[in-house]
Amino acid sequence: MSHKSLLVLLLVTMAIATESPALQQLRKKLEQSEYNSQLVDMLELSLAGGQLDRVFELLQKMIDDLTGQINSANLEYASRMAAFQQSIEQLEANLASLQNEVQTTNRKIGEITQSISTLTSTSVSIKKQLEAINQREEQIRDNRAKEIQSVQTNQTAAQKILGALEEIHDKLVKAVLSNSGSFLEETEKQEIIKQVKQELGHKHPLALLLDLSVKFDEVTARKAIELIEQIIASIKDGQQFREENQTAAEQNFNSLINEVSILREKLGQDNQKTSSSLKNRQNDLNIVQRRNKQLTLNQENTQQLLETTRVQKDLYDSNFRSNASKREGQLNSLKTAFQILRDNEQALKK
Ligand SMILES: *[C@@H]1O[C@H](CO)[C@@H](O)[C@H](O)[C@H]1NC(C)=O
Ligand SMILES: *[C@@H]1O[C@H](CO)[C@@H](O)[C@H](O)[C@H]1NC(C)=O
Ligand SMILES: *[C@@H]1O[C@H](CO)[C@@H](O)[C@H](O)[C@H]1NC(C)=O
Repeated sequence: MSHKSLLVLLLVTMAIATESPALQQLRKKLEQSEYNSQLVDMLELSLAGGQLDRVFELLQKMIDDLTGQINSANLEYASRMAAFQQSIEQLEANLASLQNEVQTTNRKIGEITQSISTLTSTSVSIKKQLEAINQREEQIRDNRAKEIQSVQTNQTAAQKILGALEEIHDKLVKAVLSNSGSFLEETEKQEIIKQVKQELGHKHPLALLLDLSVKFDEVTARKAIELIEQIIASIKDGQQFREENQTAAEQNFNSLINEVSILREKLGQDNQKTSSSLKNRQNDLNIVQRRNKQLTLNQENTQQLLETTRVQKDLYDSNFRSNASKREGQLNSLKTAFQILRDNEQALKK
């Protein structure tokens, strides 16, 4: 009952009445509550004033007011509950969609991580191959330098032997041409044998020939000259062969270096491609991870909001039910009072 209505009831009359049977009946019938005892007190005061019609009128107005309040509260309740329900459904849908997205980004993170791992091992393998290729080139250049050094040493040595042999050859030829009776001086002969041994070695056929000859005569000298010429020719052949061989070796070296360069260039390109893919994937991973973090945060917030909304809805619902039951109780009291007064109308009019 609103205070305004009670005030109006109060104003109806100021007189104090004695307890009528109707009011006694009403006190018994109504539950003990502050509202009910006020209601009965007010009715008592009003009836004492004797304006029964006005009391019915006011009671009816109070019933109508409260019924109106109940109706509008029910409408408000329905609309608020529908709004809560709509919020909850919206939040549930958002949550499901966020969970979906989190799953999708998690899957993407897995894929990118796998791809990064593959690219990393590819990159490691390419770098190893590059290292091996560089080592191989170093080896090729090293071998070639050693070979050139060795050829030079051998050519120089051959040149030196050639010089010595040509000198001996000249001496012998001169001796054969100029001397016919007494041949080479013993000292000259010993000098030649020494030189031959020095250049060609003690066991060389020429050294043995000269050493073993009883007399160093013209026949021996001619044989020696012939042998020396053969040796010179063979040494020159050797030099020629080494030179030609080096031309081929240089070509071979160049083609090996070329192969290595081509391979290195290809590996270099592969390396660049792999590195750039790796960088891109790393970038992708960062983006997806950031997104995943944001989504997870949104998901937590949405979950939180959903729970809060459910709690608010339940709280509102229980508050409404409590208010509604209070209003129902008040309406019942008013209706009961109205009925009892009606039933006792004749008695009250006296
Ligand atoms: C140089 O001479 C040495 C000794 O005779 C030989 O082993 C080597 O193969 C020669 N090198 C070349 C490049 O001819
Ligand atoms: C050069 O000669 C050496 C032997 O002295 C031989 O092993 C090598 O195959 C030759 N190289 C070429 C390119 O002919
Ligand atoms: C219930 O009644 C109280 C007191 O009149 C009011 O403050 C509250 O808003 C009401 N709640 C509902 C859900 O009707």
